[in-house]
Amino acid sequence: MDLLDSDGLVEEGWEQFGGKPFILPSMSGEWIVLGPEDVEMIRKSDDSVFNAPMRAKQLFLPDIMFGDITSNPYHLETIIRSDLTKDLKSLVPEMLEEAQLAITQKLNIPQGANSITVPLFPTMIGIVARVSNRAMIGAPGCRNEKFLKRQVSVAEQAIPMSQVLNWFPGFCRARVWKLFSMLAGSKDEAVRLLTPYVVERIKYAQQDNPQVITDLLLRYAPEEDLDQPEKLTVRVVHLNMASIHTSSIFTTHALFALARMSPAEINAIRTEVLEAIQSEGGICNKNAVDKFYMLDSLLKEVGRYQSLFAVGSSRLVLSSALTSSGTLIPAGSVISFAPKPLHKNPRAYEDPEVFDPFRFSKLREGSRRKDQSQSDFNNLLKVDHSDSGPTSTGTLTGDSSSHVKHSFTALSNDYIVFGIGKHACPGRFFAALKVKVILAELVLNYDLSFPPGASHHPKPFAFNIFTVPNPGAKLVFTKRVKP
Ligand code: HEM
Repeated sequence: MDLLDSDGLVEEGWEQFGGKPFILPSMSGEWIVLGPEDVEMIRKSDDSVFNAPMRAKQLFLPDIMFGDITSNPYHLETIIRSDLTKDLKSLVPEMLEEAQLAITQKLNIPQGANSITVPLFPTMIGIVARVSNRAMIGAPGCRNEKFLKRQVSVAEQAIPMSQVLNWFPGFCRARVWKLFSMLAGSKDEAVRLLTPYVVERIKYAQQDNPQVITDLLLRYAPEEDLDQPEKLTVRVVHLNMASIHTSSIFTTHALFALARMSPAEINAIRTEVLEAIQSEGGICNKNAVDKFYMLDSLLKEVGRYQSLFAVGSSRLVLSSALTSSGTLIPAGSVISFAPKPLHKNPRAYEDPEVFDPFRFSKLREGSRRKDQSQSDFNNLLKVDHSDSGPTSTGTLTGDSSSHVKHSFTALSNDYIVFGIGKHACPGRFFAALKVKVILAELVLNYDLSFPPGASHHPKPFAFNIFTVPNPGAKLVFTKRVKP
C-alpha cells in the first residue's frame, strides 16, 4: 500500500466498496470517503455537524504557517461576500493587459526564431501569479519579480508542507515549521516585499469604487490591521496562495489539451473568441469572456478529468451522524468526497472515460436550443391566449438560462471541482475569468505543440491527496502569423 498514491487507493476502495463509504489512510490521517448519494447531505448541511472551517484549519494548518488569520478570517469572508467579477469593474481589461505583458516576457522568443519551448507548469505559474496579483494588488506591485518569486514559493511549499507537518504530533509542528522556514524561506519575505503596495492601497480605502481585491479587503479590515499593514498583507499572501496554484493547474492542463487538438478544433475556438470580442465592440470585457463557451467547456472537462485532489470537500464531524446508506460516522472523524470516481459516473456522464473538450459546450448548445423552443412555445401560447382570457404559461415557463448549468463554475452533485454547498469555492468566477483571459490570449497568438518525442499526456505528479501537472513537461509555443 503506497500512502502517497491516494488516487490509486481511492480507486481501490471505490471498486471494493462499490461507491459506499470507506476509509482512506493517508499521510494526513484517515479520511472517510463518502459515495455519490451523500453529496446532497453535505450540500444541504451547515457547519453544525459537518464543519468545514475547522477541518480547513486542521488540514492546512494556517495558524502555524500564517499566524493568527483564522480567528477573524475577514479576508476569506470578503471573497465569500463580494462578487469580485461585478465589484471590480475593470477586472477583465486589466487582467488582459497584464496577461499580454506577462506572456510576452515569459515566452520570450529568441531573435531569429519563431518559437520557444518552455516547461509549461512553472511558466504558467509565473503568468498566473502576475495576472492574479494585478487583480489582487494592482500595478506596479503585481510586477515586482522578487515578491512574485517569494509568493510562488509560499504557494508551492504551503500545501505539501501542511501534509508533512500533519505527520508530526501537534506540540512540535510550530517548531518544525520554523526550522523549515529558516532553511527554505517563509512567507515573511513575501509579506515584507508586498507591504508597501498594501500601504499604498490604504490611502484609497475610503473610495467608493474599489479597483483591486485588496480595496475590498480594506472594507472589512479591523483598525489593528490598518495600523499594522503587515497583518493585512499576510491575508493577501494567503489569498494569493488559494488563487495562484489552483488557476495555474487548470491553465496548464487546458494548454496540454489544446496542444492535442486538431487545427480545425483550435480554429473553431479562435473564431468563437474573436466573435465574442467583436460582439462587444472589439473590447474583451466580462460579457465577451462569458461567451467563450468552448474554452469554458474545455476547463470544465479538465476539472472533470484531472482533479486537483484525490479527496476533497472534507468536513470535521462534530457529532455522530448516519450516511444515506445507514453507515454511522463517528464524531471526530473526517468525511470527504472523491472527485475522480464521482466525475466518471456513467449515470451522470456519457462515455465518462473519454476526454471530450467540447462535451459541455455541446450540452450547453442543446439546452440553449431547448430553452429557445420552450420560450418560442410559451410566446406562442401567450399570443394564443391574449385575446381569450388568462394565459396558461405557469407550468410551461422554462428557466431561460438552463444552459448555464453546464458552465465551468456551475455546481452540481456530479461535479465537485469547486466543492459542495455552503463552502463551495467563492473565488471560482474570478478564477474562471482569469484562466479564460490567459488561454484566449495564448490561443489567439500562438500555435501549440509538444516537443518531438515528448508524451502528449504527461503524467501528473501526486503528493499525498494532491495532484499537480508534471512540472518538467514542456510545450512549444510558435508565434502565429495572423491572416
Ligand atoms: C480553478 C481555481 C480554483 C479551484 C479549483 C478552487 C477549488 C476550491 C475548493 C475545492 C474549495 C473547497 C470547497 C469545499 O470545501 O467544498 C475552495 C474553497 C475556497 N476557495 Fe477556491 N478554488 C479556486 C480558486 C480560488 C480563488 C481564485 C480564490 C480567491 C480569490 C479562492 C478562494 C477560496 C476560498 C476563500 C475558499 C473557502 C470557502 C469557504 O470555506 O467557505 N479559490 N476552492
